Amino acid sequence: MNQFIQRCINDACRSEFGIDERVYVCRRCGELLEVEPVGTTDFDGLIEVWRWRRMSLDVRDRSGVWRFREFLPFADNVEVVSLEEGNTPLYDAPRCADYCGVARLRLKHQGNNPTGSFKDTGMTVAVTQAKKLGVNEVVCASTGNTAASLAAYAARARLKCAIMVPAGQVSNAKLAQAIDYGAEVREIEGNFDDCMRAIRDLAEDGSAYLVNSINPFRIEGQKTVAFELAEQLEWRMPDHLVVPGGNLGNSSAFGKGVRELMAGRLIDRQPRITVVQAAGASPFARFYREHGSTLVNDEHPQTLASAIKIGAPVSWKKAWTAVRDSGGEVITVSEQEIADAKAMIGRDGIGCEPASATTVAGIRRMVSDGVMKNDESVVAVLTGHLLKDTDYVIKYHDQKLVAPDGTQITSL
Ligand code: F0G
Repeated sequence: MNQFIQRCINDACRSEFGIDERVYVCRRCGELLEVEPVGTTDFDGLIEVWRWRRMSLDVRDRSGVWRFREFLPFADNVEVVSLEEGNTPLYDAPRCADYCGVARLRLKHQGNNPTGSFKDTGMTVAVTQAKKLGVNEVVCASTGNTAASLAAYAARARLKCAIMVPAGQVSNAKLAQAIDYGAEVREIEGNFDDCMRAIRDLAEDGSAYLVNSINPFRIEGQKTVAFELAEQLEWRMPDHLVVPGGNLGNSSAFGKGVRELMAGRLIDRQPRITVVQAAGASPFARFYREHGSTLVNDEHPQTLASAIKIGAPVSWKKAWTAVRDSGGEVITVSEQEIADAKAMIGRDGIGCEPASATTVAGIRRMVSDGVMKNDESVVAVLTGHLLKDTDYVIKYHDQKLVAPDGTQITSL
């Protein structure tokens, strides 16, 4: 097995920490940490091994995350906390392709995970690490999906779990999941960013283990989605990979996954990673547009896509590396564009929650702006299941959906 360390991403610091040190950010400079292998790995024959594991009944092989364990920072005999996450479908979406103006569009549906969102691929790894560290309680701040996912994995691991959510801003479906899985729900007045600040303070004294995507073990799990996608595409990445952006852990994870696949020569070209934000909650897009040197937070993020109503994205530096190194972009789409794209995804028989639909809206926008060509290959990542936010669907089709600025959203 490989050895791994945690390393600060700040080039001027690069401090190292042991893989089992309980740190979330660099103790020297406060920057984010990243898990890194020490030494070289033998990648020969791995593609065959991974394919073979798909027929195995071993709990690790049933998981679309642990199947790629050569790239995960654990010993071979670690006891994994798994709900058979990953192994999600890659759908062809012909109506969405027409709608966007591309010849072919494929949707990687991460909503088909055990708790209905992409968070499960990261949570299986972070909670496995929590268990290994012997912690008693795991905590997170959330717009709903992280909370539902953590609550489920904590229950599997028999750990205490507390989640902090912005009062009145999380869909009932997500809250119901967290409650059903036995988490203690703490609602606070304010938005996700306020919850994030509060939970970081709470985790500071070491009594609770923080598993937001600031925790580098979350990113390790989520990066395996790039592996699974590459496998589904016979190890040929598309020209474009399009993901929604909120706290920016997901785009960071795709960037890391692609980087590791390239370094291991498992793929020979990388996709352009484009991040799409809702216009009302788009600090990362503004940073990109204005060629900023640092990200300026949105104090009052606003969008009906509640999962990505975030103004102070924790992982923006990692996400920026992913976008910059792949030649991608960061763009925004309006509330009307999100709603219409979501309805189109539904008409392909697929469906998703609003935040996920930013991707299809973004692709349509890129084609009309001439940034994406009709014959380029493109994969959009759908991050959450249709049933995560049914209120939105009913209101949209009843012509009762109203954007945060008071504009009436009309249905297709
Ligand atoms: N899509 C969905 C459905 C999400 O739940 C989230 C984030 C994102 C996209 C954005 O991903 O933060 O990695 O850029 N949800 C978090 C939560 C914030 O608490 O569930 P990101």
